[in-house]
Amino acid sequence: MEIKIFASKKEVAKNFSDFLEELIESNGSAHIALSGGSTPKEVFDFMAANYKGVNWANAHFYWGDERCVPPTDAESNYRMTVDHLLSKIDIPQENIHRVFGEDQPAEEAQRYAKLLGEKLPMVNNTPQFDLVILGMGDDGHTASIFPHEIELWNAEDFCEVAVHPDSGQRRITLTGKVINNAKTVAFLVTGKGKAEKVTKIINEEPGSHVYPASLVAPATDNLIWFLDEEAAAGII
Ligand code: 6PG
Repeated sequence: MEIKIFASKKEVAKNFSDFLEELIESNGSAHIALSGGSTPKEVFDFMAANYKGVNWANAHFYWGDERCVPPTDAESNYRMTVDHLLSKIDIPQENIHRVFGEDQPAEEAQRYAKLLGEKLPMVNNTPQFDLVILGMGDDGHTASIFPHEIELWNAEDFCEVAVHPDSGQRRITLTGKVINNAKTVAFLVTGKGKAEKVTKIINEEPGSHVYPASLVAPATDNLIWFLDEEAAAGII
């Protein structure tokens, strides 16, 4: 595990953008699971504005989780990514693999899982991403696996339908077997609201197992935390 701490969310965005550019440029074709959330949005804005030379044809984008809403909905992670990155870069449409969760989530989770099995290399009978980008909620959720449904982490399938604990919104999420099968996992976590969970998870304090984010442990051991100083306050 590697921990990178930066002064601000903007500095996290810049440094992760450098990391992502390097991964895309060094891979003939990089299969990347994107995340929703405010920190990835900052990354997308920064890359769209400052990284004009990236060979985006090398990038194949998927989502680690998606809300079960239309692609035009303000809640859609796909829409956020289009608005902040995909509409501003030259990437082949066939490289973008949206989750169509707005109609029949359970059937879509199966379709998306099948697509991953077709598009990605299989390692240990599980699709392997080059990179899975994750955020972490204040409650310690990651992707769309929430503490009240932590059993989804160990589901047999590659994808599951989750339910947001407060809104009841259904979401399609990668499960732990896919996330931990990735070559690299990058956590983008910023803000003081995350500090308590980040501290417990990184220090592996007893009881931190209740947070889905604490179950992220890629078999390759390539787990990189991109933190701002607020989120890292308890470990600096
Ligand atoms: C989503 C994300 C979710 C997000 C966390 C952190 O669909 O919202 O997948 O897991 O990463 O809620 O969000 P922030 O980066 O905004 O704190």
